[in-house]
Amino acid sequence: MADRIRRIGVLTSGGDAPGMNAAVRAVVRAALAKGIECVGIRRGWQGLINGDFVQLSRASVGHLLSLGGTMLYTARSEEFMTPEGRQKAVSTCKMLGLEGIVAIGGDGTFRGALELSRLGVQVVGIPATIDNDVGCTNYTIGFDSACNTAIECIDKLRDTMQSHERCSVIEVMGRNAGFLALYVGTAVGATAVLVPEHKLNFEEDVIERIRASRLAGYTHFMIVVAEGAGSAMDVGEKIHEALGIKPTVSVIGHIQRGGSPTGRDRETATRMGYYAVQAFVEGRGNSIIATQEGSIVEIPIEKALTMTKHLQMDRYKIMEVMQFGSNHDREF
Ligand code: F6P
Repeated sequence: MADRIRRIGVLTSGGDAPGMNAAVRAVVRAALAKGIECVGIRRGWQGLINGDFVQLSRASVGHLLSLGGTMLYTARSEEFMTPEGRQKAVSTCKMLGLEGIVAIGGDGTFRGALELSRLGVQVVGIPATIDNDVGCTNYTIGFDSACNTAIECIDKLRDTMQSHERCSVIEVMGRNAGFLALYVGTAVGATAVLVPEHKLNFEEDVIERIRASRLAGYTHFMIVVAEGAGSAMDVGEKIHEALGIKPTVSVIGHIQRGGSPTGRDRETATRMGYYAVQAFVEGRGNSIIATQEGSIVEIPIEKALTMTKHLQMDRYKIMEVMQFGSNHDREF
């Protein structure tokens, strides 16, 4: 029987996401329920290097479920990418008696976690990023909240575009992936959705779509652009050149990273936080907590970082059928 773990640290790292606080709350409460002390590390991996910590109790996390952002702050750490920086982080763990770290973040966070685990510090990762682009998990905390924020913004835009019979080009986040753009584009009934995973044929994918929409009787048009597929400004200028109409351009930007997490993000974060502590308790550190087909599983960090996931292009076709009745039987 492995020695009982007595104290762990928890940190949030990389771009923040709604639901990170719910995950922190779940880790703290699940740990305390098992008689494990929990220390909050502020400002991500840099905080571990600097020994920037706060003791956490049940009361410390009592107000967190509905709060966006992260009470532990977050940061991206260049120093942690160096062997010297990681050694400093190990020293902090030794000084504070941290037998494990729960790291809440995206794939960059987990690459750091793997390096730290190789120096003897057990780490369990919880996937949290609005991009949903972590290869080992179907879902990352924050994705649903960010999508609903973008959907709310675009629904509002549609009202005024419809009234003025105009074209709107909207840029959403997602880093180098189109998960957020495709989900949002489908949910708002976009005229066209530009994602990095689909090689853009501007004439066919945008101009022809607007013409078909106009011929079908629409007089307003909504174009959703994933930031990884290009800039909304450029798309707007190209539409102006081709059709003579001057689209409005909106970059939703960091608004997508804020706001109170949805119920899905709160509930998923709570389960992931609980299972992260269970992994430590049952002696299975150095893993990533992931969702696979609706269940929560643990995947060894090294394997998790080799896993990839791809945009579901069948969903792209469905979006086209909804808008145009056919997807021109195109191969993707
Ligand atoms: O990874 C989350 C994310 O919001 C991406 O969607 C976006 O490209 C990036 O972070 C922006 O990073 P920063 O907040 O450092 O500008």
